[in-house]
Amino acid sequence: MCGIVGYVGDQQARDVVIEGLRRLEYRGYDSAGIALVHDGVITSAKRAGKLANLEKAISEEALPAATVGIGHTRWATHGAPNDVNAHPHLGADGRVAVVHNGILENFARLRDELERAGHDLVSETDTEVAAHLLELEVQSGADLTTAMQNVCRRLEGAFTLVAVDGQDPTRVVAARRNSPLVVGIGEGENFIGSDVSAFIEHTREALELGQDQVVTITRDGVAVTDFDGNAAEGRRYHVDWDLAAAEKDGFDWFMRKEIFEQPRAIGDALLGRHDEDGLLQLDEVRISDDELRDIDKIIIIGCGTANYAGMVAKYAIEHWTRIPCEVELAHEFRYRDPILTRNTLVVAISQSGETADTLMAIRHAVKQKARVLAICNTNGSTIPRESDAVIYTHAGPEIGVASTKGFLTQLIACYLLGLYLAQVRGTKFGDEIGAVVRELAQMPDRAQRVLDQSDAIYALAKRFKDEKSFLFLGRHAGFPVALEGALKLKELAYIHAEGFAAGELKHGPIALIDQGLPVFCVVPPRGRDQLHDKMISAIQEVRARGALTIVLAEEDDTEVAPYADVLIKLPIVPTLLQPVVATIPMQLFACELATLLGHDVDQPRNLAKSVTVE
Ligand code: M6R
Repeated sequence: MCGIVGYVGDQQARDVVIEGLRRLEYRGYDSAGIALVHDGVITSAKRAGKLANLEKAISEEALPAATVGIGHTRWATHGAPNDVNAHPHLGADGRVAVVHNGILENFARLRDELERAGHDLVSETDTEVAAHLLELEVQSGADLTTAMQNVCRRLEGAFTLVAVDGQDPTRVVAARRNSPLVVGIGEGENFIGSDVSAFIEHTREALELGQDQVVTITRDGVAVTDFDGNAAEGRRYHVDWDLAAAEKDGFDWFMRKEIFEQPRAIGDALLGRHDEDGLLQLDEVRISDDELRDIDKIIIIGCGTANYAGMVAKYAIEHWTRIPCEVELAHEFRYRDPILTRNTLVVAISQSGETADTLMAIRHAVKQKARVLAICNTNGSTIPRESDAVIYTHAGPEIGVASTKGFLTQLIACYLLGLYLAQVRGTKFGDEIGAVVRELAQMPDRAQRVLDQSDAIYALAKRFKDEKSFLFLGRHAGFPVALEGALKLKELAYIHAEGFAAGELKHGPIALIDQGLPVFCVVPPRGRDQLHDKMISAIQEVRARGALTIVLAEEDDTEVAPYADVLIKLPIVPTLLQPVVATIPMQLFACELATLLGHDVDQPRNLAKSVTVE
């Protein structure tokens, strides 16, 4: 959730750390802070609010020259987002500074113990106890690495901790349990970050730490141990993402750039995963065909947008494989005592691969001996690492807090999984699968055709920018699209928006319809189970009560046109694939409306990109 950076080398640590924080600010932006080691002491600065506030403060306060430093950008868990609670936190004598991502579950007990021993803790955070404990250790003669090992053994919960000792200008020490942490390996310098974007402009060589490990970086070395001090190893890898991929490319927002990247992202998600005849090749699904044939139930878990991708997947997977499929919010799944066996396949969908709710849910599934397959965008992140298999979505870095290309590529990965299961289990003939694959292969072009209507959708946002409430209706695979459209508007424009299954309207929500209420209506393609006609009835019902209908329908759908106050034309695609094209206008609408309202689209209030606390 929070972003953390550490640096040892020959450069000015202040510049490296601030630049790293800028790239990690998407993870949290309630406050930011930095600590530098120089002349046998620590100097730190921290400010509530965005990184710009800290930068202004340190330009006025002129931090000293230093080549060792740590930094933090916060998404508050314990204590209000103010200057005092901002990280870094210092020990009682200011010798040790710590930044932290996660939650220390036993902090109250530890705080009590420290206070009884005469310590004065100044913040409301859980982190400050770690700073005091580490400082006690180094004051009693331990080096910072040993101090970290000793303290970590006492901590409960999820944490990444990064610390410096004012009297040791050679090292930065970090520890990891259930929270993300990577090391950047440079020449004569080394880095620590919540993810590789913290140091990607300096090095593409990275080391991924395992659970319960401590890493010490010095100018010339990286040493990994477990919490007991035994030597351990991380996994070294080369980062393919370049810096340009993480920058805005001339767009005003990362989110807008990411929306327009979707044709490319969809293409990349499909790349190399089928042959010319539509035969699927998912080598990364390392669950044997025999085991896949034995699966008798699928449970899809995820949160927010990822959960909506799962809802679409349920329609597709059940239809193609005839395997019963449930979809569940990851945070609900774990606590309801789900029935899992060796023949249950749990599919965990997560863009970041670090969402704590989803991670804890897969751990529960693993314990119950279920098979776990991750659908994930972030290579080397925790969720795929702890799963039996993974399908990477290959969307590239998603920086905007609101998920866009992450969602569409999750849909593509779900379709591929469903078709692959159908292929392995023989529930669809090869030519039927091939026909769907050929449709999928056309999706990049079709997505581009929707994006080509962006000006008309921006005009729509301008027209509706003063509205206080919106409804979104859909049926079948269009229902999760309605939910996603409403979520985008809520999180970006801070406007009341609700998504409903259109059939549910008459059971209550229709009472919300009032004169002029804008209602987005996702119309299913014609010719399937009368869904199309039933959706038209729902549109007529809301229109009769004064709603203003913004209708998304197939481009040659003349039947619905008379009932549309505004018509957005979608390319003609099979019903199950329609979410790929129907979601895009809603992303564009929310992005533009939020821009017109003057909101920070990439970093909406109260949110964080990666929710690494439960
Ligand atoms: O990284 P994940 O896909 O696991 O994230 C799940 C949700 O937190 C995420 O989709 C969230 O709902 C987004 N803000 C939606 O735009």
